[in-house]
Amino acid sequence: MPEHIPSQSPSAPGEFAGHGEFAGRVALVTGAGQGIGEAVVRALAARGATVAATDRTPEGVEALAAEPGAGKVVAYPLDVTDAAAVDAVVARVEDELGPLDLLVNVAGILRISPATELTDQDWADTFAVNTTGVFHTSRAAAARMAERRKGCVVTVASNAAGIPRTGMAAYAASKAAAAMFTKCLGLEVARSGVRCNVVAPGSTDTPMLRGMGEGRVDAERSLIDGDLASYKNGIPLGRIAQPEDIADAVLFLASDRARHITMQDIYVDGGATLR
Ligand SMILES: NC(=O)c1ccc[n+]([C@@H]2O[C@H](COP(=O)([O-])OP(=O)(O)OC[C@H]3O[C@@H](n4cnc5c(N)ncnc54)[C@H](O)[C@@H]3O)[C@@H](O)[C@H]2O)c1
Repeated sequence: MPEHIPSQSPSAPGEFAGHGEFAGRVALVTGAGQGIGEAVVRALAARGATVAATDRTPEGVEALAAEPGAGKVVAYPLDVTDAAAVDAVVARVEDELGPLDLLVNVAGILRISPATELTDQDWADTFAVNTTGVFHTSRAAAARMAERRKGCVVTVASNAAGIPRTGMAAYAASKAAAAMFTKCLGLEVARSGVRCNVVAPGSTDTPMLRGMGEGRVDAERSLIDGDLASYKNGIPLGRIAQPEDIADAVLFLASDRARHITMQDIYVDGGATLR
């Protein structure tokens, strides 16, 4: 990491204590085993929520739930591409933890390839998780929330949904679709008091990002400084986001402080998309 980025996050592992802004609320987070999803789980649990931490890979969420002090985090294995499994887990979470107040869609995958070389499989896999997965979970949760006239959905998309990027055609298109789906859903359920918003991160220090640059210092430098050859701006604020930066925006949109905000997206990218 560049030296000016603090290595200690506000919610370091094992640190679940916090004030009770979300006390009594039940949240389901997808892709919760690592990276941004894990940070969202920690932040919600620290503020009193009961959190269903779900992921296709169970190890991460199980470790999170087993951490001392993580009493309100319960792990559920869930592959968001499987509609029947999504419906079953949402029903099970409501039976075991209570009515869902919040759904946070974080699960996502990234396949880098020039558009003309994308395989059918890469395209299908990317949309299955990033778009159809968001559809499956949001459909299941929002139907229940609308009936109770209470609830909130936050989808973590990407700043790539709002600006063309080389090598990211399938990913960017899948995220743009997920963001628009979330806003259309928000329009339909607004009269039922359910809010739906989008958080669009830029480069964030997670296993996904590290997988792109293989942890190389020059790869981080080019993210921050930009790369004219690939038509990419740098990051005006001069740093790569920490997962907690994204979790903070998710929690704001999920909180009562955002009670009059719906169908919006917040770009948390240090200004990278110059919006
Ligand atoms: N890291 C970044 O720079 C960045 C930037 C913009 C957007 N995002 C988005 O933020 C979200 C989280 O990213 P991250 O960097 O923490 O990624 P990550 O790869 O570190 O973590 C993603 C998690 O999603 C899970 N997952 C993948 N497929 C799944 C499926 N089918 N069902 C359930 N879980 C599944 C993985 O097991 C993993 O735990 C993603 O949607 C990603 O596209 C990340």
